[in-house]
Amino acid sequence: MADRTEPVDGGETTPVVRVPERVDVGEENSFEHGVPKIFTIGSREIGVVRWGERFYAVRNHCPDQGGPLCAGAVRLPLAAGPSDDHVCLSIEEGPPVIACPWHHYEFDLRNGHEVRGGRRAITYQVDVVGGRVYVRRGTAAS
Ligand code: FES
Repeated sequence: MADRTEPVDGGETTPVVRVPERVDVGEENSFEHGVPKIFTIGSREIGVVRWGERFYAVRNHCPDQGGPLCAGAVRLPLAAGPSDDHVCLSIEEGPPVIACPWHHYEFDLRNGHEVRGGRRAITYQVDVVGGRVYVRRGTAAS
């Protein structure tokens, strides 16, 4: 979104991109539970996820090898443990995670922390006001 131009090197103009601090991404009811909707905000793709009555926003860039994080599944985290002679998978209680489609690392949608590692996806604050969903630019949730 270029809202004006500025001269560069004595005469030519180039777009100056201005990104609002708070971006309206739509009606609350237009988001499906657990299905990321991807928006381009400034130069970044950001996925907005509804999980019940809560909303999360995460950059569509995996901190592992740059995979399209928001193309991954949103779910409760999986836990693996031994059970006799095999490994048993179970679903843990807790906040939702997004699992990258490339190597399946999981990231906590509240803060971007990798569930079983030290990487961190970039997350953003989301506000719901009057039935509209807003992403706050440059404000990582903690
Ligand atoms: S690129 Fe996302 S887990 Fe590897």
